[in-house]
Amino acid sequence: MPPLAAAASSLVDAPDSQINVTLNGSWRVVTDGVPDAYRMPPFRAQLSDAEIAQVLSYLRGAWGNSGGAVTAEAVGAMRAHTDPASSSPIVLQMR
Ligand code: HEM
Repeated sequence: MPPLAAAASSLVDAPDSQINVTLNGSWRVVTDGVPDAYRMPPFRAQLSDAEIAQVLSYLRGAWGNSGGAVTAEAVGAMRAHTDPASSSPIVLQMR
C-alpha cells in the first residue's frame, strides 16, 4: 500500500484521480501470469459522496500534503461518470 503522504495525487489541484481510486479501487495487476499481491478495494458501495469528500479532503491536507478540499458534488459527478452499470463508457484522462 503506497504512502498517501506526498503522493502526487495528494498535491495536485485536481482531485479526480483520488476520487476515482476511492470510488472504484484499482484492479489487480498481472505480470507474466503472476498477480500482484493486492490492490485498492472499491468504496463505491460503502461510502457516500459526502463521506468520500470528507476523507479525501482530510488526507489532501494532512501529513504535509497540500491538495485542496474535495466537494461532495465532485464525488457525485465522478460516481455517475464511472458507474459500471452505465451504458455509455467514458475514458478518464489521468493527470
Ligand atoms: C477510505 C479509505 C481509503 C482511502 C480514502 C484511500 C485512498 C487512496 C488513494 C487516494 C490512493 C492513490 C494514492 C496515489 O496517488 O498514489 C490509494 C491507493 C491505494 N490504496 Fe487506498 N485508500 C483507502 C483504503 C484502502 C484499503 C483498505 C486498502 C487495502 C486493503 C488500500 C490499498 C491501496 C493500494 C494497494 C493502493 C495503490 C493502488 C494502485 O497503485 O493500483 N486502500 N488509496
